[in-house]
Amino acid sequence: MSFSKYLAKKPVQLIQQESETSELKRTLSAANLVSLGIGCIIGAGIFVMTGQAAAQYAGPAIIISFVLAGLCCAFAGLCYAELASMLPVSGSAYSYSYASLGEIVAWVMGWLLLLEYGVAASTVAVGWSGYVVSFLGNFGIAIPEMLTTPTLQMDHDTHTLINTGGINLPALFGILSMTALLVVGVKESATVNNVIVCVKLAVVVLFVVIGAFYVNPDNWVPFIPENTGDTGRYGWSGILRGAGIVFFAYVGFEAVSTAAQEAKNPKRDVPIGILGSLFVCTLLYMAVALVLTGIVRYDTLNVADPIAKAVDAIQIPWLSFLVKIGAIAGLTSVMMVLLYGQTRIFYTMSRDGLMPPIFSRVHPKFQTPWINTLLVGSIIGVVAATTPIDILGDLVSLGTLTAFALICFTVLYLRKAEPNLPRPFKVPFSPYFPVLGILFCGYLIFGLLSNPITVQFYVYYLVVGLVIYFAYSHKHSKLQKM
Ligand code: ALA
Repeated sequence: MSFSKYLAKKPVQLIQQESETSELKRTLSAANLVSLGIGCIIGAGIFVMTGQAAAQYAGPAIIISFVLAGLCCAFAGLCYAELASMLPVSGSAYSYSYASLGEIVAWVMGWLLLLEYGVAASTVAVGWSGYVVSFLGNFGIAIPEMLTTPTLQMDHDTHTLINTGGINLPALFGILSMTALLVVGVKESATVNNVIVCVKLAVVVLFVVIGAFYVNPDNWVPFIPENTGDTGRYGWSGILRGAGIVFFAYVGFEAVSTAAQEAKNPKRDVPIGILGSLFVCTLLYMAVALVLTGIVRYDTLNVADPIAKAVDAIQIPWLSFLVKIGAIAGLTSVMMVLLYGQTRIFYTMSRDGLMPPIFSRVHPKFQTPWINTLLVGSIIGVVAATTPIDILGDLVSLGTLTAFALICFTVLYLRKAEPNLPRPFKVPFSPYFPVLGILFCGYLIFGLLSNPITVQFYVYYLVVGLVIYFAYSHKHSKLQKM
C-alpha cells in the first residue's frame, strides 16, 4: 500500500471555493481583526507568566527573553500573513498544510492547534482564576483553597505529578461562561471582545506610565543573574528557558487567520490583523517587563498576580484595583478568542471529514457551530479545573512552536511548488526569514526540554493523535473519496 495517499493535498481552488460558500457570516473588518488579535494575545502570559519566569529563570533579563520570543513570532507572523493572504479561509495553519504538505501533516497540524488554542484557553482560565480569587479577596470573600487548587500539581524536585484532591472551580466557570457567549454568535462576541480589549490596553498602558516613575534601577542589577548550576536557572540558559515560557504571551496573533472566513476583505485585512496586533503587543510587553522588574526585585515575583504585586509595592490602591479588573477583563477576552479559534479549526476539519460531522453542524438561528462549541468548551473546562498552569503553559509553547516551524516550512515549500499562485502579501527576504523562523522555533523548543514531564506528555500526545488519524480520520476523509 502506498504512503502517498496520506500525503493527498486538498486543491487550493477547492479550499477557496469552500470559503466562498461558507455558512458563516462575513462581519469582521480589519480593525475587528486587530482587536481580535490583541484580545487573544495579551493575557496570562504578561499578567502571570512574565513575573514567574523572571523570578525563577531569567531575572530582569526576561526582557531579552521577550526579544527572542518576539523575533520568533515576527518571522512566523510574516509567514502566516503570506499564507493567510493566499488562502483566506478558516482553519488557519491546518488548511495551509492540507493544501501544501498533505493530509497527514494537516492532521498533525490540527492536533497541534488543539494545544495552541484549546489547551491555551485552559491555561488562561487558570490565570483568570488566580486574579478573580485575588480580586474577591479584596472584598473579604475567600473561596476555600481546595476549590481553587488544580487536581494535579507538579513536584519540581522529583519531576512527578501529585494528586491534591482539589479542583479549580473558578477556571471551569470562566470557560463555561465563554462557551455560552460563543454559542450565541460571533457578532455579539466580537463586540464584547472590542470593549474588553480597550479596558485591557488602558490598564497595561497605565501600569507602564505610572510605574515608570517608581522604577529603582538597582533592581535591574544583576541584569542577568548568575546561573545556579542547573540548566535553565538564570544565566543564558535561563534566558532561553524564559523565552520558551513568555513565548506563551505572544500566542494568539495568528488566531486572526482562523477568522479569515468571517472577514469582510480577508486578503488585505488578515495580514493587517496579524502584524498589527503583534507589533502593538511586542512594544507593550517590553515596556511592562522593564517596569515590572524595575519596581520590585525579580526574585519576589513568583506569585499568582505579579503585576498587582508590583502595583501594591508603590502603594496606589486604586491602581491595584484597576489592574486586577483589567487583568480579569483581559484574560476573559483571551479565553474567548482562543475558544473561538479552537471551535473554528474543528469546524473546518469536520467539513473535511477528519473530525465527526457533528463538529460542523451550524445552529439555524445563531449561525454558529454550537454543538462543537459546547463539546470543546466542556473538555477545555475540565482540563482547566484539573491541571496546573506551568504544565499547561509548557505544552502550549511546545505545540505552538512546532506548528510555527511547520508554517515557516510551508511558505518555503509553496514558493517552490506553486510559484505562480497569487500572493497579495509576500514574506520579505525569503528564504532567509522563513528559515530564521524555523531556527528560532527550534531554539526555543530546545530551551523547554528541561522539563521531562511535559516533554513526555507531549510525545504521548502526538502518538495518540496519529492513532486517531489512522483509526478514524483517514478513513472518513472526504478528499480520499473524491
Ligand atoms: N498570549 C495569550 C496569553 O498570554 C495566550 O494569555
